[in-house]
Amino acid sequence: MSYLEIKNLQKSFIVHGQPLAVLKGIDLTIEQGEIYGIIGFSGAGKSTLARCINRLETSDDGSITVGGVDILSLSKKELLKERRKIGMVFQSFNLFDARTVFRNIAYPLEVSDFPKKQIRQRVLETAELVGLTDKLDSYPGGLSGGQKQRVGIARALVSKPELLISDEATSALDPQTTLQILDLLKQINKTAGITILMITHELDAIRYSCDRMAVLEEGKIIEQGTVAGIFNNPKSRTGALFARVFAEFQNISLTEGAGI
Ligand SMILES: Nc1ncnc2c1ncn2[C@@H]1O[C@H](COP(=O)(O)OP(=O)(O)OP(=O)(O)O)[C@@H](O)[C@H]1O
Ligand SMILES: [Mg+2]
Repeated sequence: MSYLEIKNLQKSFIVHGQPLAVLKGIDLTIEQGEIYGIIGFSGAGKSTLARCINRLETSDDGSITVGGVDILSLSKKELLKERRKIGMVFQSFNLFDARTVFRNIAYPLEVSDFPKKQIRQRVLETAELVGLTDKLDSYPGGLSGGQKQRVGIARALVSKPELLISDEATSALDPQTTLQILDLLKQINKTAGITILMITHELDAIRYSCDRMAVLEEGKIIEQGTVAGIFNNPKSRTGALFARVFAEFQNISLTEGAGI
């Protein structure tokens, strides 16, 4: 059953008085419970697409359906309620420096009509899920990049969303921490059945986590299919480029002196 359906999504920004088309008719269908990857070079429109899905950005045309709900026709009040079903992990963490980890995670519950008495319990549960129990009184300034991203993930999960949008959740992290975060996302997908849209420019992350993927190039989806299909037989220039770079890295043999 499809969970997220995007049809002909269009978005322009006005730059120096001129419209700049950033999303040029996106069509995308994601099944319930899958981890779906979107890959594209910097500037392709990945973050803009992510922000349009939960209406942090207002799109110009097209339709977005999340769990059968037409997102673009909701009133502000209805949107606040529906947004609880959509968790978002941001590229740049987006944490509140003056709030503790606990209060960063609690934030989405504080601003919705979630019962105040249940906030503490829900934050503790979520912190445990992402392995942050011992950091709840710390401030973001005292955390490593991986820990900050865990706070971002916990904040996205605290409302028990049905859809998690991960915008470059691992791009700023070292390989080992990346693997831990990807394992965490896979675990959440499996145990809670959350549908995940994983947006990244890292092919490894998509290969590790996703079954199906799409390639975004200059605001258009130019290729979509299974991850294996796109890697083994890319149809688009960008798809081929990503696959080639990946293959080249795989082929570097670690003989003495290689790479020095
Ligand atoms: N608020 C804005 N105002 C004007 N232009 C914008 C705005 N946000 C994004 N853009 C432009 O839209 C294009 C797509 O940006 P976006 O952030 O969606 O790319 P991206 O694929 O996420 O890139 P990256 O991999 O670097 O994160 C870029 O050309 C960017 O300059
Ligand atoms: Mg981005």
